[in-house]
Parts: sequence; C-alpha cells; structure tokens
Amino acid sequence: MAALLGAVCRSRAEAGEVWLVGAGPGDVELLTLKAVRVLQQAEVVVYDRLVSDEIMALVPPGALKIDVGKTPHHHTLPQPEINALLVALAQAGQRVVRLKGGDPFVFGRGGEEQQALQQAGLPCRVVPGITAALGCAAATGIPLTHRACAQSVRLVTGHSRNGEPDLDWPALVADGQTLVFYMGLTHCAALSQQLIAHGMAASMPAAVIARGTRADQQVFPCTLATLADTVAREKPAAPSLLIIGEVVQFYRADSTEMSRQQALPVA
Ligand SMILES: C[S@@+](CC[C@H](N)C(=O)[O-])C[C@H]1O[C@@H](n2cnc3c(N)ncnc32)[C@H](O)[C@@H]1O
Repeated sequence: MAALLGAVCRSRAEAGEVWLVGAGPGDVELLTLKAVRVLQQAEVVVYDRLVSDEIMALVPPGALKIDVGKTPHHHTLPQPEINALLVALAQAGQRVVRLKGGDPFVFGRGGEEQQALQQAGLPCRVVPGITAALGCAAATGIPLTHRACAQSVRLVTGHSRNGEPDLDWPALVADGQTLVFYMGLTHCAALSQQLIAHGMAASMPAAVIARGTRADQQVFPCTLATLADTVAREKPAAPSLLIIGEVVQFYRADSTEMSRQQALPVA
C-alpha cells in the first residue's frame, strides 16, 4: 500500500484530512451544496460502486480516483484495507473525499472509517447524504410516515454477516410503522415468511424499488405474500430496497416522471 501511494501521490510534511461525503441515492441533483464544494476541492476521491457516473463526473480532472467497490478482479476491497488506505492517504498530506452512496452513517460503514481515522489522530469530517430510504420514498410518492397509518419508520438491514438476518420479528410486526429493508432482496422470501409467521397480514402492501431516483428507476408494487414471487419474476436491478407497510398504498406511478420533468438543468 505504501509503495502504491508513493507512486500515485506526493507525500507532504503536514497531515491531510478525510471528508466522509454522502453521495445520495444516485440522482446528481440530490447532492448537497456542501458535498459538491468538498468534492470539487478533493485531491483524492475514494469511492464505491453505489456512486453514480453523473456524480463521479463532478470530480475535478486532476484528482486521483480510487475505486474500492471493485478491484480489477471484481472483489470488494475488505473494510480494514479501506480504513488503512484512508489513514495512509491522510498521513501523506492528501485532501481526501471518501464518497459513499446515500448517507455515510446509514449502513455505510462510515462509523468504522471515522473510528480508524480518529484512532490515528487524523481529522475526519462528515457531510450527510440523502439515504436510499428517503430518496426512494420521495421518488415514488410513498410517504414513510402518515398520521393515518404510520407513526414511525424503521431502517433495517436484510443482510447479516452469517446470511439470513436474525431480527427482532415481534417488534417489526407492530402496528403503525413502516419497514424499509436495505440489502433485503437476497433473503426476501425468509423476510416475508418471518413477518407473516409473527403476525403481519399477508396482504400488507409492499414495494420493491430498484435504482431509486435514477433515470432507470423501477418500482414493483406487491404484497407481503407476493413479494418473493415478484422478486423472482422481475429480477430487480441492484441496488434495490423494500418498503413494507400501509403507506405503500400511496404509491404514485407518475412520481418518477414528474420529478424528472421538474428537475433543473445541471449546469
Ligand atoms: C450498503 S447499503 C448502503 C446504504 C447507503 N449508505 C444509504 O444511506 O443509502 C446498500 C443498500 O442500499 C440500498 N440502496 C442504495 N441506493 C439505492 C437506490 N438508489 N435505490 C434502491 N436502493 C438503494 C440497497 O438496498 C443497497 O443494497
């Protein structure tokens, strides 16, 4: 790693800094002004596979871009190596942007990267991004809360280190809440079976949202009972998430089209 860094960037006497920047769910116009400013001042951008091409186009031409979502052999760089890379770049005096899909602190391992930098005594700043749940909800007209039927919303991972998620099912089936499952497609059959077995109605409205907020967004409305068959039949593209709850009844098929029509031209 040290040799690689020596070859690609100059080492300075003073320590640099790392900004953990949320790139949002994909639509370039959902970046914050601060994210754009920080990105345009970056000397090195360390990014992952969820960051859209339109957003990567904002990286200054002279900046070094390091893809840690995929190596040439299509393997993800392990998290400890990403942490070490960020530390080494900052120690070499570089102004680094660690660009992450959505928000860095929502299923983004931003906490682990911040910890590694803090332990090395290096400055780490965070720019929040629009997390996928909020982006997908807005782009489909599905309100995550609604006074009539959802007083809370839960962001849940459908993936665990050992495979099928081991979740607090009785808490998840309580009335009056919306569930948003990130990384939930692989185990969607087990997710829906568990929710039904713990008392959620099989007719509960659900939606799979693929590539939310992007030009090729797709939405597959279904119910808890038909979720697994819908996923098997439609094969939604990655990244996709699941929204489960009464609020899905408010889904508006024209939302994506409307938000595209209202989009401001990108300068
Ligand atoms: C590792 S998590 C990262 C979440 C990210 N930090 C965030 O705040 O949105 C990746 C998961 O987020 C969800 N996701 C991210 N972007 C999405 C999008 N544009 N549309 C649908 N789901 C998305 C998918 O469930 C995907 O598997």
